[in-house]
Parts: sequence; structure tokens; C-alpha cells
Amino acid sequence: MEPVPPAIPPDRLLLGPGPSPVHPRVLQAQARSMVGHLDPWFLEVTDQIGDMLRTVMRTSNQLTYAVSGTGSAGMETAVVNTVEPGDTVIVGINGVFGGRIADTARRAGADVVALEEPWGRVVPAERVETAIKAHPGAKLLALVHAETSTGAHQPLEDVGALLRDTETLLLVDTVTGLGGVPLEVDAWGLDVVYSGTQKCLSVPPGLAPITFSPKAEAVIERRTTTVRSWYLDVAAVRRYWGAERAYHHTAPISALIGLHEGLRLVLEEGLETRWARHAEVGKLFQDHIEDRDATLLAQAGHRLPQLTSFAWPDGIDEGPLRRRLLLEHGIEVGGGLGDFAGSAWRVGLMGEGATHGNVDRLLHAVDELLEPS
Ligand SMILES: Cc1ncc(COP(=O)(O)O)c(C=O)c1O
Repeated sequence: MEPVPPAIPPDRLLLGPGPSPVHPRVLQAQARSMVGHLDPWFLEVTDQIGDMLRTVMRTSNQLTYAVSGTGSAGMETAVVNTVEPGDTVIVGINGVFGGRIADTARRAGADVVALEEPWGRVVPAERVETAIKAHPGAKLLALVHAETSTGAHQPLEDVGALLRDTETLLLVDTVTGLGGVPLEVDAWGLDVVYSGTQKCLSVPPGLAPITFSPKAEAVIERRTTTVRSWYLDVAAVRRYWGAERAYHHTAPISALIGLHEGLRLVLEEGLETRWARHAEVGKLFQDHIEDRDATLLAQAGHRLPQLTSFAWPDGIDEGPLRRRLLLEHGIEVGGGLGDFAGSAWRVGLMGEGATHGNVDRLLHAVDELLEPS
């Protein structure tokens, strides 16, 4: 075999649905020398990660850690540890990721009740209330806080209040939400909440922050069947993250050191300031793209600032335009998924990417590409 050159990524501005741009401090942190995953120094780092995650997720849940794996590993951890065969699981499906939660729950043996809403809309609290009344013994009710396939921003507070005094756990996917829009795990009564690192936290993909409320912990403790995943079994993994410090699997050391630095950056900026920055920059982009006759696809009043999905007016072929944006301007945006494939763009202004300068750069590039030649 010929010698293979080193893999040096091209210069890209990441303004798609993730990964988002990563701060140099995080990249440097990940490149530091290796230590053992049971080294006392590293164990302290993991304790600090737990503390910072609790701060960023606004929770005092003791069982809070970073799953080894991307957001999907967080989803799977959340579902397989709480669901037992025969359980009823209610899932709001208004885009790709609600559909994936339903699929994961079915694979765990659940009977899934799907609360389907048109893509781009949120699941109204009244629908949840009716579903809970119809299925009072449901084990879980799952919602996607930030639906990356559509840009819909699901309200959670009312649903949390509905479930607070019931047996049902509220499971929330905030893979694209955490660090970008307000999230109040304890105040809103959320029980099982997972995220990912490569969106508004601006850390490379590979870890899934997760937290379980005491109510969720009690459900896991009462299980009568074995969790159907060895790798993601919370009861085993928590023996590493907790006081025991027992080996389960080798922690992804460099990735965790990167997350540590990314969380430090979030806290240096301040959560509220970060939410406000995302809100301002996302609105700016949405206003400007509407001025170019694009149609925003998420429901008015429930639009995520960090992820905008929109359809171009007739006559604009989104695929070739997106490709030229990448190859001629070095800017990555996403195409539509599922129902929106072939007609829509998804623009992410997440974490380090959420700046006025990036909105300008993107709009200038798009205007130049659309200019009649
Ligand atoms: C809302 C949501 N949930 C889950 C996932 C899955 O995360 P990952 O691709 O990191 O496994 C994503 C990824 O884009 C997502 O946006």
C-alpha cells in the first residue's frame, strides 16, 4: 500500500444541524497527553464534569453523567433503562427524532402510543393531557425539546406540571437544546433528559450528557427484568461515575477532557447570556431569510433560534446551491430530512457558530450564489 497522507480537515464554517464549530480551547484540551481512566486526577475531572452538567441542566439530580457515545446513545440509555417489555410509552412524534424514540421504545418491548403532529408543529399540552388520561399507567411520556429535523421548539413546563404527581416519567430529548435555549430540568419536572455534545455545547460529537430524577431512579431500581443493553446499563455505569469508581468500560478520556473545557466555556459565558445570544442571532437570520422569500417551516411562536428549517421559493434547486456553498464558500448547512427532504435547508447557529458575523457571511455567500450570472 502507498503511504497514506495525514487526514487534515478542510477549513469549513459549520452552520448545519451539527456538529457546530469547536472552540480552539476545546480542541487543545482534547489533544493533551493521555492519562488512565482510573487515575485520581481524571476521576476528579469526571466529578467536575458531573457538577458542571448539573449546573448547565439546572438540576440537583445525583445521577447525572456523560454517556460514552453520541446523542443516540443517550436516547438508548434513557429508554432501555426505564422501559420493560409490555410497558406503555407515549411518544410525541413531530419530526425524525420523536420517531426514533418510538422505534427505540418498541425495540425495548414497549407498546408505543404515538402522538403524531404535522412536521414543524409542537405537541400541544392538551393532547398530552388526553393521552395521559387514556393511558394512566404509561411508564414514559417522551418529547423532543428541540426537533432538529424541523426547528420546532417544544414547550415542556406545562407537560411537566401535568405529570408531576403521576407514575409516568417525562423523558426529554434535548440533544439540540442544551446550552442554546432555556432548559430547567428540576423546575419543569423533567425526569430523564439527555443531550449531545456537538450542538449548542460546541464540543466534538461522542458524548451524551444525561440526567435521571429521583423518580426515574426509583423506576430503574424497581425493574423486574434485566436491562437489555450491557454497555448502557445505568446500574453498572454509575458504579464508575459514583463513589465506587469501579471499572465498567474504558472512559473516552480525551473526549471527556474536551467536554470539561466546553462546559467551562459555557459557564464562563453564563447560561442566560448564551441563551440570549442564540435567541438574538437566530432571530436575525430568520428575519433575513424571510426577506429572501424563504418560508420558515416551524410553527410561529415555537421556533428554535439555533436551528432554522426553511423552504426556498420555487425555482431554487436546494441541493446544487448547498453543494456550491460548501465547495465555493466553505460553509456547511444541512438539507431537509424526511418530509422536508429535497425542498428545505436546515441552518444551525449553534454554540460557537451563533454569531452576527456568521449570519452575515452566510447571507453574503447565498446572495452571491443566487445572483443571476
Ligand atoms: C434531536 C436529536 N436527537 C437525537 C439525535 C441523535 O444524536 P447523534 O447523531 O449524536 O447520535 C440528534 C442528532 O442530530 C438530534 O438532533
